[in-house]
Amino acid sequence: MGERQRLDKLLGNSGYGSRKEIRNLVKQRRVTVDGHVVNDPGIHVEPGVNRIRIDDIEAVYKKFIYIMMNKPGGVISATHDKRHETVIDLLPEEFSNFDVFPAGRLDIDTEGLVLLTNDGQLAHEILSPRKHIPKTYYVHVNGTVTDKDKKAFSEGIVLDDGYNCLPSELDIIKSSETSEVNLTIYEGKFHQVKRMFESLGKKVVYLKRISMGGLKLDPRLEPGQCREITDQELNALKNNC
Ligand code: URA
Repeated sequence: MGERQRLDKLLGNSGYGSRKEIRNLVKQRRVTVDGHVVNDPGIHVEPGVNRIRIDDIEAVYKKFIYIMMNKPGGVISATHDKRHETVIDLLPEEFSNFDVFPAGRLDIDTEGLVLLTNDGQLAHEILSPRKHIPKTYYVHVNGTVTDKDKKAFSEGIVLDDGYNCLPSELDIIKSSETSEVNLTIYEGKFHQVKRMFESLGKKVVYLKRISMGGLKLDPRLEPGQCREITDQELNALKNNC
């Protein structure tokens, strides 16, 4: 743990309320540090060394938080937007005091796995183009997807701007007028999945991210729902970076 921080900032970052709410808790003499009632919300404390209690219940210090969301269509994977709802707007009250941001973007009409975190280092690793973190999408495509397409994906699709995609893996679930596939890609160019299919003359009509690195979207999460990821899931994600 190690570094000293302002008490109000530490409690705020750990989900105990806004700075103002924490100042009020202090005013109401409900916060103690090492058994002494705190009068100044700005005192410096050291997580793991000083014992912080609120209403006599030990405060749990969280350095970082990691939330998996099933992003619905129509919502932007950004922190602010003037016109549309964002993934941050969808966060329930319990997460509203954490300064999280989405680690990576999905198009407005794409659904599925978005990781929201305040861990800038992990987000950077996930997004680093050098890391080639696999991302798997469940896709509905207008047109019959065939083994010939599978081969084209495995050899590397060339996009409309001449960019040579890395080899990717196509699993055909259903091949008919509207086909269903899972596609795993190892990079994240703008509208990449849609453009890959366009290169083969096919149109993506539904797109959902179902995994990113070692993290799989919890199928129990309805669109718009989210939950903190488990330690196991976090390890799986970190092991893939
Ligand atoms: N590829 C796309 O085309 N859109 C997304 O949202 C993600 C990957």
